[in-house]
Amino acid sequence: MKMLGIFLVASVSLVLVNGLENGLARTPPMGWMHWERFRCIIDCDLYPDDCVSEQLFRKMADLLVSEGYLAAGYEYIIVDDCWMSKHRDKEGRLQSDPIRFPSGIKALADYVHSKGLKFGLYEDYGNYTCKGYPGILGHLETDAKTFAEWDVDYVKLDGCYSDYNKLEEGYAEFGRLLNKTGRPMVYSCSWPAYQEPLGIHVSKDTWSNVTNILRWFSKNQNRIAAYAGPGHWNDPDMLIIGNYALSYEQSKAQMAIWAILAAPLIMSNDLRNIEPKFKEILLNKDIIAINQDPLGIQGLLVKTVKNIDIWIKPILPFTEGSYSYAVAFISNRVDGYAYRISVPLKDVGLNHTKGYRVEVSIYSPFTAYRSVKVL
Ligand SMILES: *[C@@H]1O[C@H](CO)[C@@H](O)[C@H](O)[C@H]1NC(C)=O
Ligand SMILES: *[C@@H]1O[C@H](CO)[C@@H](O)[C@H](O)[C@H]1NC(C)=O
Ligand SMILES: *[C@@H]1O[C@H](CO)[C@@H](O)[C@H](O)[C@H]1NC(C)=O
Ligand SMILES: *[C@@H]1O[C@H](CO)[C@@H](O)[C@H](O)[C@H]1NC(C)=O
Repeated sequence: MKMLGIFLVASVSLVLVNGLENGLARTPPMGWMHWERFRCIIDCDLYPDDCVSEQLFRKMADLLVSEGYLAAGYEYIIVDDCWMSKHRDKEGRLQSDPIRFPSGIKALADYVHSKGLKFGLYEDYGNYTCKGYPGILGHLETDAKTFAEWDVDYVKLDGCYSDYNKLEEGYAEFGRLLNKTGRPMVYSCSWPAYQEPLGIHVSKDTWSNVTNILRWFSKNQNRIAAYAGPGHWNDPDMLIIGNYALSYEQSKAQMAIWAILAAPLIMSNDLRNIEPKFKEILLNKDIIAINQDPLGIQGLLVKTVKNIDIWIKPILPFTEGSYSYAVAFISNRVDGYAYRISVPLKDVGLNHTKGYRVEVSIYSPFTAYRSVKVL
């Protein structure tokens, strides 16, 4: 039996993904989305390298392949808000901004596909997108068809300017319309993020945002964890590793906990100039394997000792009548000292009579693992 330990010094917006049973997303989707890093930069004269444009997505597609991200599993390039023209065409169809996406979305999707990647696109279940572009209301069927015609593989449907009481029904209806197109698309729904009392609408890239998400996920785990599994995942939002906000240790913690949560691994960073140490975290095979474990079980916060959280996720192989487990220790401490903690394995639910073999991930940033012993 195998147990993988992830030991971390550091201690996490909220979006939930819901899946159609269409054979996609059997493991959590992995990819890159522009929002957290490039937001709604639309002035290409002032910011030619950073504006939301077809060049940006082509470049990121190139880098996903050439820098080894695709080989590690990151396969979706997802365009978030601000890709559209402010107006629909005469037939009521969405159109891309003519200056920033002169070749059109279909051409961009073709390019992305030519690199062996998959293509994602954003809309919003309201009259407007969060940044004021045309929303989907009144055009659900047209937009589903347009997305299919453009060979979109992944749809993110946001919830700004919507009627919060109609989201469940509305998102389900659009899901049915996507299904009707006959093109399998991953459907990423932001509606729970708008309905939950916490009201996390706009994620920001700060560590406190990451810990807020973690707190929300652990508080609600008994309610939501059962909804995660092959084909449908709870989504705590983008990986912001490699951006300005997270330290190295905090970056490892985000990656570890997203792995334990079986969360979609959607990076939002600048692949052109990411520091090697952050790239290494994003490409860590052991951690990605935990995230992509075929069982697709969302891990849980099982115990907190001295303000250090212990998270556990059942993974394969299944031997001697038991799962193996990935274990993450996430410290919420801010006092800068090292702490020794001692926890009988049975207290965190690992009670197999034959005991466990411990594998410590090279990911461990500090020395405490040396004193780990099976109790
Ligand atoms: C549509 O839904 C049915 C039933 O869940 C599923 O079998 C099929 O694969 C779906 N097709 C697409 C294109 O999503
Ligand atoms: C969207 O716009 C329509 C037409 O103006 C209006 O009737 C409807 O209430 C709006 N919906 C929302 C959620 O704002
Ligand atoms: C994210 O962090 C910023 C800065 O600390 C804070 O102002 C904002 O409220 C946080 N947002 C969420 C959703 O936690
Ligand atoms: C381990 O814990 C599970 C769940 O509480 C329980 O069903 C099982 O009998 C326990 N096994 C042993 C060997 O104590």
